[in-house]
Amino acid sequence: MAIPVVLDVDTGVDDACALLLAALHPALDLRAVTCVGGNAAVDAVVANTLTVLDAADRPDVPVARGADRPLLEEPVDARHVHGQDGMGDLDWPKSERQPDPRHAVELLRDMLLEAAEGDVDRRITLIPLAPLTNISLLLRTYPSAAKGIREIVFMGGGAEVGNATASAEFNVFHDPEAAAVVLDASAELDIQVTMYGLDVFYAPRVGQETARMLSAPGGRDAADLAGRLIAFQCERFGTVDATIGDAGAVCAVLEPAGVRRERLPVRVELAGTWSRGRTIVDRRDWSAGLHHDPHGQARSTIDVCLEVDAQRYATLWLDTVGGGMR
Ligand code: BDR
Ligand code: CA
Repeated sequence: MAIPVVLDVDTGVDDACALLLAALHPALDLRAVTCVGGNAAVDAVVANTLTVLDAADRPDVPVARGADRPLLEEPVDARHVHGQDGMGDLDWPKSERQPDPRHAVELLRDMLLEAAEGDVDRRITLIPLAPLTNISLLLRTYPSAAKGIREIVFMGGGAEVGNATASAEFNVFHDPEAAAVVLDASAELDIQVTMYGLDVFYAPRVGQETARMLSAPGGRDAADLAGRLIAFQCERFGTVDATIGDAGAVCAVLEPAGVRRERLPVRVELAGTWSRGRTIVDRRDWSAGLHHDPHGQARSTIDVCLEVDAQRYATLWLDTVGGGMR
């Protein structure tokens, strides 16, 4: 039976790669997509998300608009990475479909409360690929919705690496309070969490030549879009290949054995002169005890992805979105 999933996105070139995979893979039941401001303003995120689902021929998947700003910070976008429209400025036809009238948090609440009433194996895997604003609001406003969650597999943070700053990854940096709330609430509500962070994010890659094979001139289907998304990144960064990015977190749901995880205590740095938004992953050997550590151990212990079988995930993505590689 297909795994029921909901993606929370800030589409986003690599969120688009993730949406294509989740929309097209037969082992996933993509129940909804919720949007949040991040890589671009939330209205652009909604428009981009609907465009991707049109390319994947999935008009049945509801899309809801969520938070337009972080809990505390002013919004900062990443158009220098993702283009002016947030999705590679591909000149792709805009969707005519309207989003769901509910706020993202209300759509998540409705879907999760319904799942909580049903069979345990129909509980929903939440895959947040963006700042965690919507998910933090959900878990604090409607904690009973947590019963409908099978697990959360989120893209964000990192044990070693930063990108928005030398310390912090963009999604967590954009809304550190939201990330801290999600970790805290997941400990309180007993939600299983996996962090697919920057330690693995860049590794699964697709080459420029492969991207050319995917896209026919003037083509408008999922494989065309997939090829154009990779080509955009190669051009922007002057590289011969590009990461499938957020799509790796979807791969981690489909093929969990493709990542090596360790269960570790994690906190989010909310102060810090140079480190606000960093995920502090505690990899210490505990044999010496905690007596001399004034901070003690983090409340949230989660699975942190530390290594990935990059070829396996890149192939999984290509096999699913590549239209049989033409
Ligand atoms: C994350 O930030 C965004 O730019 C990407 O879509 C990804 O979710 C990587 O830091
Ligand atoms: Ca993203």
